[in-house]
Amino acid sequence: MTMVAMKRKSDIPEEDAGPQMLVVVDRVVDPYLVCFHDPTGFRAEQFRALRNKLTVLNTDHASVTLVVTSAIQGEGKSTTALNLGMALAELEDHQILVAEFDFRRPSIERMLGLNPEPGLVELLHDGIGLDRAIRPSGIPNLDILAAGARPSNPSELIASRRIDELLAELKEQYHYVILDTPPILPITDAGILGAKCDGTLLVVGLEKAPRRMVRDSIATLEDLGANLLGTFVTGIRGADPAADERYRYRYVEGD
Ligand SMILES: Nc1ncnc2c1ncn2[C@@H]1O[C@H](COP(=O)(O)OP(=O)(O)OP(=O)(O)O)[C@@H](O)[C@H]1O
Ligand SMILES: [Mg+2]
Repeated sequence: MTMVAMKRKSDIPEEDAGPQMLVVVDRVVDPYLVCFHDPTGFRAEQFRALRNKLTVLNTDHASVTLVVTSAIQGEGKSTTALNLGMALAELEDHQILVAEFDFRRPSIERMLGLNPEPGLVELLHDGIGLDRAIRPSGIPNLDILAAGARPSNPSELIASRRIDELLAELKEQYHYVILDTPPILPITDAGILGAKCDGTLLVVGLEKAPRRMVRDSIATLEDLGANLLGTFVTGIRGADPAADERYRYRYVEGD
């Protein structure tokens, strides 16, 4: 499949950018994908900081499978998985995959403005190849594996042996495989996957999950054998750091 690389507003020379084109380009990609829309901004830099923490932990430069989960629905898992994927894809010679393992509320295709196509379910059930199930995201060095058709038995699929083989195959092809998963308190899928992966990142929506739920999530992940690497806090409000001049670092203009 061929795909035209997506462009940011700032990448399009002014003379080429009619108003219609800008509308089309900006509408399709979720506004919270800050590494796409505002790659030099404060929020994108937070995802690079997260990326750098992960790469520092990865001292032997091994391929890494990473589960992204949260306590409850809507804390920013999918946004974090994709922004982190984009930040990792900026590293030289790195191939990154963001894979949808949330069959119940899949969102990767929608957030990237892509049409639904076969993905993980067809890979597991119908035996389509990785080359058909995996697609370019439109961002250099970042591929996606979408969920595909909704399965009748999502938790059984997650627990299947085929997932272990698949993760091993993906690790051969990618430096980082990021798994977007359902929240851990209502459904244990993320913990089952966490035990099969190298690390787990817990997204904490600041005004969403109370501390007790975060504690319960950590306990559940650890009970299931996930290797919890850390937490990533989203939804910080109040004084907006993005609007605070002190967080800006202005680049010197080129000659
Ligand atoms: N950093 C953020 N700050 C504030 N709001 C955010 C942030 N990131 C995402 N959101 C908002 O929260 C909503 C949920 O984000 P997202 O889809 O990433 O969460 P999720 O945990 O994957 O949700 P689900 O449990 O439904 O899969 C988004 O639609 C967006 O409106
Ligand atoms: Mg999600």
